[in-house]
Amino acid sequence: MIEAARAELARLRKEAEPLEPGAPERSSLAAAAFAHAERFLSDLPEGPSYRPWQGPSAHPPQIEFPDEGRSLEETLAFLESWVDRPGIATASPRFMGYVPGGGLFHSAIGDFLAAASNKYAGFAPAAPGAVRLENATIGWLAKAIGFPAGSAGTLTSGGSMANLTAIVAAREARDEQGGGAVYLSATAHHCIEKALRIAGRRRAPLRFVPTDERHRMRADKLAELLEKDVAEGVRPWLVVASAGTVDTGAVDPLAEIADHCERHGAWFHVDGAYGGLFMLCGEGRSALAGIERADTAALDPHKTLFLPYGTGAVVARDAGTLLDAFSASADYIQPFGDDDVGPSPGDLSPELTRHFRALRLWLPLQLAGVGAFRSAQSEKIALARYFHQRLSALPGWETGPAPDLSIVAFRYRPDGGEADDFNRRLLRRLQEEGRVFLSGTRIGGADWLRCAILSFRTHLEHVDETLEVLIRLAAEMEAE
Ligand SMILES: Cc1ncc(COP(=O)(O)O)c(C=O)c1O
Repeated sequence: MIEAARAELARLRKEAEPLEPGAPERSSLAAAAFAHAERFLSDLPEGPSYRPWQGPSAHPPQIEFPDEGRSLEETLAFLESWVDRPGIATASPRFMGYVPGGGLFHSAIGDFLAAASNKYAGFAPAAPGAVRLENATIGWLAKAIGFPAGSAGTLTSGGSMANLTAIVAAREARDEQGGGAVYLSATAHHCIEKALRIAGRRRAPLRFVPTDERHRMRADKLAELLEKDVAEGVRPWLVVASAGTVDTGAVDPLAEIADHCERHGAWFHVDGAYGGLFMLCGEGRSALAGIERADTAALDPHKTLFLPYGTGAVVARDAGTLLDAFSASADYIQPFGDDDVGPSPGDLSPELTRHFRALRLWLPLQLAGVGAFRSAQSEKIALARYFHQRLSALPGWETGPAPDLSIVAFRYRPDGGEADDFNRRLLRRLQEEGRVFLSGTRIGGADWLRCAILSFRTHLEHVDETLEVLIRLAAEMEAE
């Protein structure tokens, strides 16, 4: 009996051997993957920023899941044709649509190392070093936005999860029974309303605060709405301000909003997914004054720190609010070993087991140094100002207000033509050409284009090229 069991185990082990490549095989896998990534990266400077899916006639091969493994060459070839190429090249220096990030190479190495060691950074005793590193990295983010000692946070998959996490913490802290009112402006990111819905506050009284001509929340109007609610017996619960809106990058008047929140006991949440981490550079700090007074802030290193997608962060000025909302225990999770590591990430977030995210953020900060990030951020803000100035000086172009951060909204006013339709067609042409990628939005009921400068790879020559493409396309369309 035992002998038969041993033989069966030996057979199963043999069959599962492909899961355990030896050292030489690991080296050749890594070398091939590295060469693949290098080919991709070396194509970026001159390659298109957008390639359409190859059309209905080019049927992609079936995605199969074979019982026997295939060669890496075959799988990488599939990736190159059917995954790497079609769609937006978000790592391109000429990708300035939506909100770019970039995808730092150092972070790819960090991800590789985190996945290879598979350190369990959810529970402090399991990986004291990884949890210390994660808490220190979050501590660095909190300090960057001016939060005091005693704050805490957690790395999330992105800005939406960071906002949701904060809203759940705010609900537990100030709106357990429901009924409190929420204040935001129409320029708030749509993930806020989604988060309210997920957090069970779909029916919370929503107050939309008007914005000024620079698309910033009007603090005086917020004060009026708060006072009206209080007078009518409605309890102000949550004020959501934007540290950089997605459409125009406008920063709400955070310090004034903080005053009103304090006066009325409302929770002050700042959605800094796009702009909050510009606090690293001087230009950002002057635009974002007041963010340090938030109760919670959502940040997105996969935007403003140029990381690959999958890294957001939420920070709370009082660690207790996250712990109250998210800590949990189970009989099978018993403390052992180190007990002075700080809170477990699993107690600060809805997640338990998760990728050891801090490594992809900590490693580039170590290797490139914080100064490189600071300078890259200042460069992006300067490029946005340059783009705005140059376009403002050209006939036919309407630019919105000078950018608070690194997004510029603009549109072309055709001679006698219909502006919305013209700008929609202009954008489509630009995207179809595929050299530069911009995106559009609606502002005040009209179509506008946006140039969002945030990739670490975007420099002056790319912004100049974008201006040339826009000028040429508008002239071509006017001549038709
Ligand atoms: C201001 C703002 N908030 C929240 C989000 C959502 O972040 P994510 O896409 O990382 O979930 C975005 C995304 O662009 C954003 O710009």
